[in-house]
Amino acid sequence: MAQLSPQLKQATPVVADRGEGVWIYDEAGNKHLDFTAGIGVTSTGHCHPKVVAAAQEQVGSLIHGQYTTIMHKPLQRLTAALGEVLPAGLDSIFFSNSGSEAAEAALRLARQATGRPNIVVFQGGFHGRTVGAASMTTSGTKFKAGFSPLMPGVVVSPSRTLPTTGTTAGTRSRPRTSRCASWTSSCRLSPTRPTRPRSSSSRCWVRRLRPRQ
Ligand SMILES: Cc1ncc(COP(=O)(O)O)c(C=O)c1O
Repeated sequence: MAQLSPQLKQATPVVADRGEGVWIYDEAGNKHLDFTAGIGVTSTGHCHPKVVAAAQEQVGSLIHGQYTTIMHKPLQRLTAALGEVLPAGLDSIFFSNSGSEAAEAALRLARQATGRPNIVVFQGGFHGRTVGAASMTTSGTKFKAGFSPLMPGVVVSPSRTLPTTGTTAGTRSRPRTSRCASWTSSCRLSPTRPTRPRSSSSRCWVRRLRPRQ
């Protein structure tokens, strides 16, 4: 008898039957206010009528057009629509299936574009569970346990909110990354922390980060 891998656990015992707006209904008919919104995926609410209609229309015409094999209009329309809202200079779009895949793509892009091997991450960030993404994840040891060796070239910088050498919690210092800067292809910042709420002090810290001159 197959079972779900115990590798990933649910944060709640809720077995969802259906969702509507901000509500999740379980199999017993209980109504739960969903504060998670699929960790951002269902940001328009569960089963928003426009999203449902668009999805139903799409699966009736083309379920899957593999990107590297064929082009299709929805992909072109989404690319153009994103181009309308992206800041100037951000005009190349790479679609991926998951957060980990996006983190891996950013990692590869940074290394290829700069020719530098190292990545700076900030203490406490979560970037995903694939090998590259897990190598950059420091929000918990469980995300790295049992499949070493991980990817080399990751330097962990203290987060603004943690007391460290030269940067004490409560000061306005920037993270110290200069000692590895010449070998550094990118700085990966994970503004979301699944395990901890974002504080207003960490939001200020994120705003003070600047690209290296
Ligand atoms: C900031 C961030 N990066 C990466 C991920 C990994 O995403 P996925 O589980 O889709 O691979 C998450 C997921 O919570 C995330 O919050």
